[in-house]
Amino acid sequence: MKLKFLITAITLFLSASLMGATVHSAEELFQLCSTCHGMKGEGNKRIAAPAIAGMPEWYVKRQLTNFQKGGRGTHADDRPGMRMRPMAKTLFWSGDKAIDTISKYVSKLKHPELKESVNGSPLRGRKAFAACQACHGEKARGNQALNAPNLTVTNDWYLLTQLMNFKNGVRGGNPMIDPTGASMAPMAAGLSEQAMKDIVAYIQTLR
Ligand code: HEC
Ligand code: HEC
Repeated sequence: MKLKFLITAITLFLSASLMGATVHSAEELFQLCSTCHGMKGEGNKRIAAPAIAGMPEWYVKRQLTNFQKGGRGTHADDRPGMRMRPMAKTLFWSGDKAIDTISKYVSKLKHPELKESVNGSPLRGRKAFAACQACHGEKARGNQALNAPNLTVTNDWYLLTQLMNFKNGVRGGNPMIDPTGASMAPMAAGLSEQAMKDIVAYIQTLR
């Protein structure tokens, strides 16, 4: 990552906030996000930043709040999460509505083309995905009433990392701060790495 560039971006962002221009437009807020998540929110595997374009507004909002409050990005083995957490915190300086504003903006971005990078058997994955449908839906489009996100809008490598994180207690390990993550964690607990890859490969076929 171009660290200098990022530091400059954050410094500009914070100084603009402190100069009294506390209310940022969505475009201004997104400039910071795009340094890691890409100009179109398409993600950047090299720095483990996922595609976020077109994610449901409620889910982006929940995750930003979650990072801000320390429900994510605090575990010692969660380096990508630790990169994201301070970014969610900077939104705190941008006024009460910053999380609402940026979540709405991100949700309206066009779904990016996502390349496949995980090798697995979609055929086996299809069977295993039966256990996920109750919450994520038959086509993996998610279900807000059950807090379950759309799994077809982000990168396959990211889905795999998150399943590992849930299994290893890196994500969802704190039911007090992150009750929805804690409800997902047991679903990943029984999956082998191969089963996770198979499921992720199947989800690619549902895009
Ligand atoms: C310094 C790089 C960086 C910046 C800047 C950044 N992020 Fe992130 N973001 C990440 C990384 C890395 C992750 C993956 C964390 C993980 O693996 O748990 C992430 C994860 C996320 C997630 C969770 C997605 C999911 O499905 O779990 C959301 C939502 C998100 N970022 C939104 C934003 C928004 C909105 C901004 C701008 C306000 C932003 N990010 C700025 C690096 C960054
Ligand atoms: C009981 C309902 C439930 C079931 C069953 C379930 N999930 Fe989830 N899942 C959730 C919830 C709720 C979240 C959101 C957690 C949060 O808010 O951080 C989630 C989040 C995820 C995420 C993180 C996505 C992201 O963008 O951050 C992945 C990946 C995932 N689930 C995969 C699966 C797979 C694969 C299965 C089947 C083996 C499964 N889930 C079964 C409820 C469920």
